[in-house]
Order: sequence, then C-alpha cells, then structure tokens
Amino acid sequence: MSQALEGFRILDMTHVQAGPTASQLMAWMGADVIKFEPPTGDATRGQLRDVPDADSLYFTMLNCNKRSITVNMKSPEGKQVFTELLGHCDVIMENFGPGVLDRLGFTWEKVHAINPRIVMASIKGFGSTGPYAEFKAYENVAQAMGGAMSTTGVPDGPPFVTGAQIGDSGTGLHLVIGILAALHQRNSTGLGQYVEVAMMDSVMNLCRVKWRDHQRLSRGPLPEYSVHTEQGMPFTPRAGNDSGGGQLGNAIHCKPHGTNDYIYVVVQEAVWEALARRIGGEALAIDPRFATIGERRRNQAEVWRLLTAFAADYTKREFMAVLNDLDVPCGPIMSTEDLADDEHVRGREMYVEIDHPKRGPWFNVGMPIKLSASPATIRRSPLLGEHTEEILGDVLGYDSTRIEALKGAGAFTAPARKKV
Ligand SMILES: CC(C)(COP(=O)(O)OP(=O)(O)OC[C@H]1O[C@@H](n2cnc3c(N)ncnc32)[C@H](O)[C@@H]1OP(=O)(O)O)[C@@H](O)C(=O)NCCC(=O)NCCS
Repeated sequence: MSQALEGFRILDMTHVQAGPTASQLMAWMGADVIKFEPPTGDATRGQLRDVPDADSLYFTMLNCNKRSITVNMKSPEGKQVFTELLGHCDVIMENFGPGVLDRLGFTWEKVHAINPRIVMASIKGFGSTGPYAEFKAYENVAQAMGGAMSTTGVPDGPPFVTGAQIGDSGTGLHLVIGILAALHQRNSTGLGQYVEVAMMDSVMNLCRVKWRDHQRLSRGPLPEYSVHTEQGMPFTPRAGNDSGGGQLGNAIHCKPHGTNDYIYVVVQEAVWEALARRIGGEALAIDPRFATIGERRRNQAEVWRLLTAFAADYTKREFMAVLNDLDVPCGPIMSTEDLADDEHVRGREMYVEIDHPKRGPWFNVGMPIKLSASPATIRRSPLLGEHTEEILGDVLGYDSTRIEALKGAGAFTAPARKKV
C-alpha cells in the first residue's frame, strides 16, 4: 500500500526532541527521512541510557522509520556531500541553536540557490528576529516563556511545567503543518520557501485560551475560576484543575485515594440535574444553590465537595461507570502504568512493540494520526550511520571508490567540537 508522503525525501538535520518528533511523523506518513548526523551522533543517543552501549529510549522513541547518515559538516568534503544531498531532497529540517547553519555556510538564501524547490524548515527557541533571537531553548524554557508555566499550578504555589511536551513536540507539530503547507504551495509556484517555527510562539498558540481570559479580566472577574479573580487583575492566574472553559470541571479523588486515584469530571450544563439526582437525590436536583450555571459557578466548591464525598466509595473506574451511565463527560487520571495496560490504547496501536538489534524489544507510542488509505507501519530507529553507504549510493549514485576516497578525506569522521 502506498503512503501519503511517499516520494518526498527529507534531509533531517534535527536533533534532541523538537525536530525529531516532527520528522518522525513525516517518516510515519511515508517520507524518506534521511537523518543527517554529525559523526558523534544526535546527542540523545547517549542521554539517559538504560542499556549499556545501546541507543537510549530518548533517541529510539523519536527517530523511527528514518535512515541515518553521518557526515562531518566541518570538512570541505562533508559540505560537498551535504550540498549534493540538498539537490536530491524536497525538505531540509533543522533545529540547531541560533546561527549554526549560517556558520556552516548554508544560509536560507544559499540553500534556495542550490535547490530552488527545496523547503527549508527550522525550529528556533524564539525565531530569527527580535531581542530573544540569539538564545538557545529547551522544552521548559519555552513553557516558561510562552505563558504555560505562569498559568499552570495552584495560585499560592510555584508555577509548574506540564508533562505534555508542548514546547518540543508541540512545536514539532507546528513545523509539520508549515512544511506540508509549503510543499502544497510549491505545486503552484514551483518554488520552496523558508518555514520558521519558534518554540515560544508555539507555546503561546497552545495557551490561546489563557489570552481569552487575560483580556476578559479587563471587564470583570472570571466566574468560572474557583480561585479569586477581580476586574483589572493584570494576568491570568493559575487555577489548579479548574476546567477554565464554559463548563465546570475538576479532578475528584476516589477510592483508595492513592496518587493517581482521581477522575476528571466535567459538570456539563446538560447533565447537572441527572448527576445531582444520582449523588444527592431529589433534594440536590432542585437545590436553588445549584439551579443555574451561574449559581453552580458561584458555589462550585460545594459541588466538588459533594462529588468527592460520593466518590469516596468508588474507584476511579467504578466512578467512571457511574458517570458514563449518566452521560457525564469524565476521564480517570491514567498513569503510564494504566495506559500501558489499557485495552483501548493497545487496540488503537498507540503502544507498539518494536525490536532493536542492541536493546531487544521495547515500546513506542504509536502514530496518533490515522490515515485510512495509508496506515503507518512503525520500524525501529537507525543505528548511527547505519545507512551512510546506502544513501551515498542510492541517492547520490556514488560508487565504492568515491565513498572510500571521501572516507579517507575525513568526510565521515568526528569534527572538532565547538568553541567554548
Ligand atoms: C537544543 C540546543 C539548545 C542544543 O544546543 P547545542 O548542543 O549547543 O547545539 P547547537 O545546535 O547550538 O550546535 C550544534 C553544533 O554541532 C555542529 N554540527 C551539527 N551537525 C554537524 C555535522 N554534521 N558535522 C559537524 N558539525 C555539526 C554545529 O555546527 C554546531 O557547532 P557550532 O556551535 O560550532 O556552530 C540548540 O540546538 C537550540 O537552541 N536549538 C533550537 C531550539 C530547540 O530546538 N530546542 C529544543 C531541543 S529539544
């Protein structure tokens, strides 16, 4: 079966998480992704290692379905190989620190001149313009600067990062969208373009509703927040587990009251009466303190207290069944252990067993985008430089004599590491 992005070739210079997560998605959709690595490899190959001498899960989980070539970009021969590969690729992707590719001699203008059809896609912490442009960034730096941390946690505690990697993987998703749009536009213009996504911008985009609240604060308090807000408050506060949307919601502790024995309950307007009748009988269903959404917002602390008291006799799964019967939107807090064992997750191929020559069997999170005509088949990540000769041969047409000459000239051996 052919795949959606079959025929597209990507020169993937990305490293760590933000870029590799994007190119892995494109590989899962069928693109030929050539992971172009320095001879020392993507640093994550050796980070957080759990099996001696084997690529770490940090690397294997983000680099499936790719081919790996190692090239020393700091040698003239390496630059030549890179230049020739540019001529045979549709996309080049990178997420180096500011100015790295420019220092290597490959500005966007130069890349565009070498191959006018190529789309060049970059992730930067803060983009290439503005006072922050020169700064490097990691996940939590982006969460800090994009508004996620200041709006996550409880008001009288410190700001918190979220477990979801919105700064890295979230930015990677934005990059994929930009690349696909640029490839589509190339169909009419015949030309590639430069796609830039900043991690800070992406986090701001993902925090969009917090900006809705920021602006509403100039007109009055936010009644849906359980924490105190008032007109003129200069920033959107942290609001614990409040839903922060049009419907009330919160996490309710269940039996046996362990770390993850919670269920998130959305007290949707449409279900209040039935829910009230189930947890407090007719008296609660007609209680004027909760008769309207406005009253329920005002008295939400009592709503949560009543639900928590009721939930004390149920596990999160049992309470889920009670709520499902009433059509109440809810979700037990799933630990990684819960998810790994979950029938629904396995059935949707979101927990996929893969083999690896050096680490044996391991699991990856599956492909979240389901294309009916071209489902993804997940293959293991490449070993460092596993496909160097194959790529030089089948993409560039080099013969063994030429490859040996390049080897001798140092095109594939470790470069001197950067200045301090
Ligand atoms: C993530 C980050 C902080 C890591 O910083 P770092 O480890 O210092 O790496 P940099 O990207 O700045 O630099 C990479 C170096 O490897 C060199 N390099 C990369 N590929 C090479 C190759 N094939 N051959 C030779 N050298 C190579 C580069 O030339 C550069 O060296 P230089 O600084 O001497 O120019 C930085 O890359 C960054 O800010 N990226 C953008 C934001 C981002 O994506 N962050 C999220 C990461 S999950």
